[in-house]
Amino acid sequence: MDAFKYENSKLLCEEVSVDQIADAVGSPVYIYSAKTFRDHFASFQKAFADLDPIICYSIKSCGNLAIIKLLSELGCGMDTVSGGEIYRAQQADADMSKVVYAGVGKTDAEIKLGITSGIGWFNIESEMECENISRIAKSLGKVAHGALRVNPDIYDPKTHDKTTTGKKETKFGVDIERAKQFFRTYGKDEHCVLDAIHLHIGSPIYSPEPYVMAIKKALDLIAELKAEGIEVKTLDIGGGYAADYESGKSPSYQTYADAIVPLLKDTGLQVILEPGRTISGNAGILVSEVQYIKQGGNKKFAILNTGMHHMIRPAMYEAFHFVWPTQVDAKFEPAERKEVMDMDGLVKTEVVGPICETSDTIAKDRMLPPLERGDRVAMFTAGAYGMVMASNYNAMPRPAEVLVDGDTATVIRQRETYADVVALEESPMPVDLA
Ligand code: LLP
Repeated sequence: MDAFKYENSKLLCEEVSVDQIADAVGSPVYIYSAKTFRDHFASFQKAFADLDPIICYSIKSCGNLAIIKLLSELGCGMDTVSGGEIYRAQQADADMSKVVYAGVGKTDAEIKLGITSGIGWFNIESEMECENISRIAKSLGKVAHGALRVNPDIYDPKTHDKTTTGKKETKFGVDIERAKQFFRTYGKDEHCVLDAIHLHIGSPIYSPEPYVMAIKKALDLIAELKAEGIEVKTLDIGGGYAADYESGKSPSYQTYADAIVPLLKDTGLQVILEPGRTISGNAGILVSEVQYIKQGGNKKFAILNTGMHHMIRPAMYEAFHFVWPTQVDAKFEPAERKEVMDMDGLVKTEVVGPICETSDTIAKDRMLPPLERGDRVAMFTAGAYGMVMASNYNAMPRPAEVLVDGDTATVIRQRETYADVVALEESPMPVDLA
């Protein structure tokens, strides 16, 4: 699951005490474990080894340069969704030939950056986009490679509505009926070579079945296209593999692979996988400090110095994150992380942030060890869609990020200051309307 564990009543990240880090750099702070990133990548790669796939880590889940570097050095490719993420991949010296680029709204400038930086594939979302990529590639005297994003009309009923993407009625990709015509129309384009298919059905997907259904549909489509003389060489099956928000919650990599690998093994297709949260989710925690304890009606509130501005998942998706103090009495050392913890002496607590919104809740009616002002609290499985979705709402600076590797800890993003927050507003400039 990860390298965060309690020893002698204290939370450790690998060999380093989380409190020592917070003493040194302050809180709130995101703390990541390099070992967890490495272990997750290695076991994911091992599970799917029979396909010899290109694994493209989804930068959108946790995109700090140090993390991209760490994974690139292991041979990992990158899944990007904007010019900004392509730029990040470049800055981290990623192998650009192993970069895929999805997104329904690619601008001309972003497409240019994708082409000139030599990315592997554009995951193409519409006819108009395909024509635009071809036009831009031609003007640059280059050839772009495209994977058509096909929307298989498959989804996992357990996936939150806001993160389901494989249904027919979403903005992503083209539906399977239109896909054939798409290949007939654009399959021979010389500047945007279309010989790949991309799928992504949502995230998280808590069982292999939706992947199996989507892949079968894609393989049928590939066979029909082949019969017409159109060859698809690459199949990108997207991301969405789950993370352990509770201990043992997500299927093992082997469980996904056992269902997926046999379908693709002898097809001769180059397979691409785009895991994000399953690599990064458990690799990070968000550490904060209790500012106040107060009573509101019958509820006991613990008010933190972090909230929806630093971790929006509970407010946005009603997501569960395990929350626990970084230092506890021995009797409160959690053997497992569960939504309902059963230990004598726990107190029902509403854990909230400082933002002026009622939705700024981190944990609702949660049974927790008694909290006091000054206690530190860790929010687990916060590596994915945590810092990347953080904002400066209420003019709050964003947290620092620290990467632990064995017994060392490195600040990989400094804490923002008030000056950082206003920096781009300090020199108003007249707009040249000429
Ligand atoms: N590939 C594509 C095309 C995607 O759109 C995504 C995620 C991924 C891969 C990676 O999915 P993962 O393996 O990380 O589940 N903010 C939401 C999740 C949004 C996911 C967007 N796309 C959350 O916090 O749950």
